Amino acid sequence: MKTLVKGGTIVTASDIYGADILVEDGTISLIGKDLDTFVTADTVVDAVGKYVIPGGIDVHTHLDMPFGGTKSADDFESGTIAAAFGGTTSIVDFAIQSFGGSLHTALEQWHKKAEGKAAIDYGFHMIIRELNNQILGEMDELIRREGVTSFKLFMAYPGVFMLSDGDIFRAMQRTSENGGLICMHAENGGVIDVLVEKALAEGRTAPKYHALTRPSKAEGEATRRAIALAEIAGVPVYIVHLSSAHALEQVREARDMGLPAHAETCPQYLFLDYDNYEEDGFEGAKYVMSPPLREKWHQEHLWKGLAGNDLQVISTDHCPFCMKEQKELGKDDFSKIPNGAPGIETRMSLIYDGGVRTGKISLNRFVELTSTNPAKMMGLYPKKGTISVGADGDLVVFDPDATMTLGVKTLHMKVDYNPYEGRQVQGVPTTVLSRGNVIVDKGLFLGKPGDGKYVSRKTYTLV
Ligand code: URP
Ligand code: ZN
Ligand code: ZN
Repeated sequence: MKTLVKGGTIVTASDIYGADILVEDGTISLIGKDLDTFVTADTVVDAVGKYVIPGGIDVHTHLDMPFGGTKSADDFESGTIAAAFGGTTSIVDFAIQSFGGSLHTALEQWHKKAEGKAAIDYGFHMIIRELNNQILGEMDELIRREGVTSFKLFMAYPGVFMLSDGDIFRAMQRTSENGGLICMHAENGGVIDVLVEKALAEGRTAPKYHALTRPSKAEGEATRRAIALAEIAGVPVYIVHLSSAHALEQVREARDMGLPAHAETCPQYLFLDYDNYEEDGFEGAKYVMSPPLREKWHQEHLWKGLAGNDLQVISTDHCPFCMKEQKELGKDDFSKIPNGAPGIETRMSLIYDGGVRTGKISLNRFVELTSTNPAKMMGLYPKKGTISVGADGDLVVFDPDATMTLGVKTLHMKVDYNPYEGRQVQGVPTTVLSRGNVIVDKGLFLGKPGDGKYVSRKTYTLV
């Protein structure tokens, strides 16, 4: 099967140039001018006047995830189809160890959730909730045999996800031997729980108290501690969903000292802010996520961090819950609102519109932050994350002039609200290819649930 993408401007993390791309049996086999003069393809994609970028890679998603007595609204079918519409062709989702359960059992469960449903390629991180010698041994096996090469640990949610500093340190020591990467949810869970208890005792139950009980300094403190523990263990650390200037300061300081500290941020922290919690009635629940949205002034710091490589990745933390029946669980108590928001479909357009068009980041940096760096950090590069001979034909034809209005009606995520409802963005994926197959074209999904393949990942390349 041959697919020719013709006449576009190829944009990678390092280059911008006009050329055609031939994908043969899923893999890019030729890049050059006027390939149609000597190649016959089964499918020709017209990319004239458009950018052709490597498919977006979202390394932080929660599809079909149980949380707070409910589960995230998108499963692997709806979530990956929405991702494809948004120009994302690979995800790394989080499998979750059950209390008393093994990592292998959790991985099997998540394979079952994805198999036959995923429309784009996918890998898994593993969330570790309990650590003992057996689990430490399983970490090695997951890396060696299963292609799961990163582990998320929590410094928040005591009794649910949080590990002690001792267990975090043990896991880090293990990754210093087995080459895995620790992805850290860095918020001081002990402090937050005390603040939550106090707020509720004082009758402060509205959604905004979710944010007011999770101060950015509790994120800064945990980030500093995570980096210090990683330094003692002699390993890199990757801070997930970094939201604040206080946390960023810790990552920057560490990197300036030459330490392998890494971090991702997410569009919600760049485009939404604390004021959203002040929306009327229960509307603030739409934005209940952890870490919470911060005051607007943090955004400028995050953009500078992205431009200057103190932040290396933009992921989504896609974790959607409907307002009806899900977010509503916390109508009378903000601590019962399921944490998370939708974003898998809007990342590429938001970042292009709000980052590239405004001059905050370059076009190459856009590709680097949304595809190349996530691929490198999560062991997917160079099969994914770039456009080169030998790479998978995961390509997005991106129209820099097209506009769209974000909202429940225009988007495909299975959630009854959108945090960006009514926002107009310029820069839209028009055709999306997964391993050479056109899966989205001009607003239509042409792929098939189940065509997405599990990707066994290698260990990280630091960026
Ligand atoms: O609020 C969030 N972020 N929900 C998903 C779980 C997590 O901590 O990433
Ligand atoms: Zn988290
Ligand atoms: Zn998350």
